Amino acid sequence: MTMLPFCVGMLFRLLTLCILRTSAENPCKIIQATANCSHLKLTKIPSDLPSNITVLDLSHNQLNGLPAANLSRYNQLVQLHAGFNVIAKLEPGLCQKLPQLQVLNLQHNELNKLSEKYFSFCGYLLELRLGNNRIKEINRDFFKNLKNLRTLDVSHNNLQSARLGSEQQLQNLQELLLSFNSINQTTKEDFHFLSNTSLEVLDLSNNPLKEFLPGCFHAIGSLNSLSVENINLGPDLTKTLCSELSGTAVQSLRLSRNQLSRIYNTTLEGLLKTNLTILDLSNNALSEIDNGSFASLPHLEYLSLEDNRIVQLTPQTFSGLSNVKFLNLRKSLGVSKHSQIHDFSFQQLKHLENLIMDDNSFPGITKNMFTGLISLKYLSLCNCAIQLKTITNTTFVSLADSSLISLNLTKSGISKLQSEAFSSLRHLQVLEVGHNNIDQELTGDELKGLDNIEVIYLSYNKHLTLTSDSFRFVPSLKRLLMRRTTLSKLDLSPSPFHSLQNLTVLDVSNNNIANINEDIFDGLQKLSILNLEHNNLARLWKSANPGGPVMFLKCLRSLQILRLGFNGLDEIPVEALKGLSQLKQLEMQSNMLNLLKPSLFDDEVSLSLLNLQKNLVTSVEKDVFGPILKNLENLYMGYNPFDCTCESISFFVNWLNTSNASVPGLSSEYICNTPSKYHGISVMLFDNAACKDSAPFRTLFIINASIVLVFMIMVIFILFQGWRIQFYWNVSVNRILGYKEVDRRREHFTYDAYIIHARKDTSWVDKNLLPLEKNDNFLKFCFEERDFDAGISEIEAIVNSVRISRKIIFVVTYRFLKDPWCKRFKVHHAVHQAIEQSLDSIILIFLDDIPDYKLNQTICLRRGMFKSNCILFWPAQKERVNAFHQQLKVAIGSSNNAN
Ligand SMILES: *[C@@H]1O[C@H](CO)[C@@H](O)[C@H](O)[C@H]1NC(C)=O
Ligand SMILES: *[C@@H]1O[C@H](CO)[C@@H](O)[C@H](O)[C@H]1NC(C)=O
Ligand SMILES: *[C@@H]1O[C@H](CO)[C@@H](O)[C@H](O)[C@H]1NC(C)=O
Ligand SMILES: *[C@@H]1O[C@H](CO)[C@@H](O)[C@H](O)[C@H]1NC(C)=O
Ligand SMILES: *[C@@H]1O[C@H](CO)[C@@H](O)[C@H](O)[C@H]1NC(C)=O
Ligand SMILES: *[C@@H]1O[C@H](CO)[C@@H](O)[C@H](O)[C@H]1NC(C)=O
Ligand SMILES: *[C@@H]1O[C@H](CO)[C@@H](O)[C@H](O)[C@H]1NC(C)=O
Ligand SMILES: *[C@@H]1O[C@H](CO)[C@@H](O)[C@H](O)[C@H]1NC(C)=O
Repeated sequence: MTMLPFCVGMLFRLLTLCILRTSAENPCKIIQATANCSHLKLTKIPSDLPSNITVLDLSHNQLNGLPAANLSRYNQLVQLHAGFNVIAKLEPGLCQKLPQLQVLNLQHNELNKLSEKYFSFCGYLLELRLGNNRIKEINRDFFKNLKNLRTLDVSHNNLQSARLGSEQQLQNLQELLLSFNSINQTTKEDFHFLSNTSLEVLDLSNNPLKEFLPGCFHAIGSLNSLSVENINLGPDLTKTLCSELSGTAVQSLRLSRNQLSRIYNTTLEGLLKTNLTILDLSNNALSEIDNGSFASLPHLEYLSLEDNRIVQLTPQTFSGLSNVKFLNLRKSLGVSKHSQIHDFSFQQLKHLENLIMDDNSFPGITKNMFTGLISLKYLSLCNCAIQLKTITNTTFVSLADSSLISLNLTKSGISKLQSEAFSSLRHLQVLEVGHNNIDQELTGDELKGLDNIEVIYLSYNKHLTLTSDSFRFVPSLKRLLMRRTTLSKLDLSPSPFHSLQNLTVLDVSNNNIANINEDIFDGLQKLSILNLEHNNLARLWKSANPGGPVMFLKCLRSLQILRLGFNGLDEIPVEALKGLSQLKQLEMQSNMLNLLKPSLFDDEVSLSLLNLQKNLVTSVEKDVFGPILKNLENLYMGYNPFDCTCESISFFVNWLNTSNASVPGLSSEYICNTPSKYHGISVMLFDNAACKDSAPFRTLFIINASIVLVFMIMVIFILFQGWRIQFYWNVSVNRILGYKEVDRRREHFTYDAYIIHARKDTSWVDKNLLPLEKNDNFLKFCFEERDFDAGISEIEAIVNSVRISRKIIFVVTYRFLKDPWCKRFKVHHAVHQAIEQSLDSIILIFLDDIPDYKLNQTICLRRGMFKSNCILFWPAQKERVNAFHQQLKVAIGSSNNAN
């Protein structure tokens, strides 16, 4: 019984889950008020979309109809896209259920017969697309209720006629697309239904048109733009068309692909009574243009003759085209060698601003070829086979009266620029001479006269040699591009760029440059884009570079984009990128960078894009990358051998997890290389949690390591200097603990010095020390053999004697070091005494040359413990014995203070 409520609960949950499931499984993409159900093989309109959608895309499905009942749920629809289905019929109620519909797209369906009822309620419709159906005829006024329609597309059907209705209608239509039908003629009656319409665009292209019957275009209220393309009109039908257009408002006529091989001086005559501004005659295999053919087009502004085979242009070809601003002659001249452009051919084009002559072949630029083009601003002569090998000071002399702003000579086979080659072009701002074969030293004179130049594009030439004066005459230059020009000699002083104060873009990439001077970019205060990629700059930044690293980027305060990829860089000095505070984009991909120095990027705080792809970066640590990652928006750092340990990668993984920056390829390109545990695994799978506790561990580790280190240092110190510590320790302890200080005054001692010596050295003492007593009455030694009282034990005697002697003399010999008494007791006691008293009470006399370590090993004393005047050496030479005695007396007489 207790199970029942539980079971019911489970069942309920399962049910709700199922319901949620099915609704979640609705495969349509719903974004705001748009439901996109395209490409889903739907056979029915989904009934579970939000009812307030305004756009529904049902295209590319298998719908065979648009049941009004199903659509009534979405009565706020503004756009309905139902193209690419198998719809053959429409329901009359469609627009009734969708009263707000503006766009109805039914292209690529199987509609063949329309009905008056289909669109009778579609008054709000603005756009109706019925292209690519099977409509053969429109025999009733199906569209007459479409009072607001602006676009009607019935292209790609089987219409025999342009007549889409009998009575006047579609008064707001702007665009009528009738292309790709079977219309073979147009009559006045055909277009009567448009008699109240101001049509912007009428497209009749790709119809088998044979006739334009009188008055056909005049039947249209007004017509702005007519396309009659790909119909093989030929010269005759073109002429008819033009005369039918006479007196209409047509402004744009597109006649391309019509096999119009020749234009007679009468062909376009009919256009005289129009205000035609645009004429497209491209792709017509046009070879001859009679003189004066365009005389009837005084209003023409745009003329395209692209892709034709014109044999010649004469001074009369363009006569009458006084208003043309844009002339497209791209690929328009015949391939035969005879085609030519006569001098003064363009002289009539007083208002021409833009002349495109790309992809042509003609004998050359003659002295007066461009004469008369007084308004010309843009001239493009790209990819022209015109034997332009050398540009001399006369090549462009015919343009001296124009105000040319831009000259494009890309791919024109130029190999040399002579002195003042462009001096006629005083207004020129943009000069493109890229992709040529220029192979020369730029002395500066070539560019002389370009007083207003702003852009020079020299990229992709054979071999440019710069000099310090190369750009002397073009100080107004803003963009200089010299990519892949085998630039040799860039280590010039002064720099070739020194005069270019206004330069903002410099591209010297792909040049294998290996040598540049530190001052190469000096003074380029406005430089904002610098492209140095694909060079060989690695050596300049190596610390091992003779003379030190070359900081060639200094002073570039305005730099925003810096490209240093593909340079073999394996080192970047910390100062290399200093001061580049405006930098937004730094690209250093495909180098060999591994360990970057801390604070390298400290000044690059406004960086938004960093590219370090394909380097040898193993760790991304905070002290290097912290500043640069702060405001970053795009990071490219894949294909590096990341070391996935807490120290190397923890900071980076944290950043990746929290940053909003875009990091393309994060899961596939950021792969751990080491340690073996993570090898081949995505950086994102690195277990960062394990590093969370590493901070206390780290401090612990540091403390431990420090302790061990200090300990080791102490051990080593003690090993070599321990005696000193021990000694001073004893001295200090004895002093502090207040051992009775032995009175230092002479009267308290019986002897001046107690002599400790090996038994075997007795005779030496007897002979060399005792005689001193006789010479000096005040001196009194304590000498065991002579002064010890009989009957007292030797130990006691020694202790007493030491106590009542002011100084203790060690006679140090090898025998002394071996003598057991001396070693074990006498020295020990004496030292003890000395410590109590003061260390200066000991005097060492060396008879043998005994190394310090031996002394230390045997009696734990070192020379360093004593003042130098307490260490005496018995001289080998007899003459010095007196001096020795004198030293000894001084030592015995000296104070016992251990200072
Ligand atoms: C549509 O209606 C749903 C609720 O039925 C509402 O959440 C949504 O915001 C509405 N969308 C629009 C575009 O009005
Ligand atoms: C629906 O999505 C397809 C691509 O899946 C896209 O081409 C189409 O433009 C989208 N339709 C609408 C109305 O946004
Ligand atoms: C146009 O086609 C119709 C029928 O296909 C034909 O009767 C008529 O003669 C054709 N007109 C021309 C000018 O070819
Ligand atoms: C057209 O050219 C012919 C000769 O080919 C000439 O006789 C006639 O005058 C020209 N017509 C015009 C309008 O220039
Ligand atoms: C051409 O333009 C002028 C001035 O705008 C106008 O008066 C004239 O009627 C136009 N011609 C035609 C044929 O539309
Ligand atoms: C062109 O250069 C030649 C010398 O190379 C000179 O004699 C001639 O005057 C120059 N012509 C012009 C137009 O500058
Ligand atoms: C010059 O021509 C080349 C090749 O056609 C083109 O890529 C370039 O954009 C042109 N330059 C200008 C300023 O139009
Ligand atoms: C550099 O630019 C400034 C500001 O645009 C301008 O005034 C100056 O004349 C330019 N210098 C040269 C040498 O063209």
